[in-house]
Amino acid sequence: MEVIIRPDAESATHLAARVIAREIRLKPKLVLGLATGRTMERLYRHLVETHRKDDLDFSLLTTFNLDEYIGLPPDHPQSYRHYMNHHLFDHVNIDIRNTNLPDGMADDIDAECVHYEQLIRDCGGIDLQVLGIGRSGHIGFNEPLSAMFSRTRAKALTPTTIEQNAPLFADPREMPKRAITMGVGTILDSKHCLMLVTGAEKASVIAKAVEGPVTSMISATALQLHPDCRVIVDEAAASQLENKEYYRWIFENEPEWQEFQ
Ligand code: GLP
Repeated sequence: MEVIIRPDAESATHLAARVIAREIRLKPKLVLGLATGRTMERLYRHLVETHRKDDLDFSLLTTFNLDEYIGLPPDHPQSYRHYMNHHLFDHVNIDIRNTNLPDGMADDIDAECVHYEQLIRDCGGIDLQVLGIGRSGHIGFNEPLSAMFSRTRAKALTPTTIEQNAPLFADPREMPKRAITMGVGTILDSKHCLMLVTGAEKASVIAKAVEGPVTSMISATALQLHPDCRVIVDEAAASQLENKEYYRWIFENEPEWQEFQ
């Protein structure tokens, strides 16, 4: 795992967007794993801007989102399909047929989960998975006690997650209590992982995720097992990391990061 600390949310997000843009340019047919949440809104703004100003080409990309609420139709303003269209897909030259999210309205949710895993395999696996972290320590909607080898499945959401996301709904009681999510094992199968975490309210959970023991109580700790995972944080989110100086030293001295300094 590599931890990169940037001064503020804007520069952390800018760096994450540059890393993603570089991967897309290196491999135009990239299979890109995507996340949702408030943190990612800023990231998608940067990617849309890179598309507009620097011609970043999304036309050959395939995307897979981490998760979707069960019971929300795609046009519901809080569905993750709606979120993705609104924040990214409607503003770049992606072929919408190559954008994938689990179908939270499927009659047979278990079959939909198996199908989603198969779609990922059929595309040759995810090249780069973008991740945020929830206050419960989840990646995707892998709530505490998610098995390290879990695959795409339905998960009940914890009260912490419901409290975090319910205010985004016009009527907070409308928030579904279950979601389909890629499993921790599905995420660990991605070739590269890139986690973006900003804001003081994430400081405690990201310190546990990066420096704490690996535990299924905090599914993000599983990323410590991934051979190629980068975590980009701002100073506010980094405030409880014990080894900040070491991470800064690596970033300043690692040749690969020179182009991003
Ligand atoms: C949701 C998503 C997660 C995301 C989290 C972070 O719960 N399922 O994939 O990491 O939101 O949200 P925010 O960026 O709003 O803190």
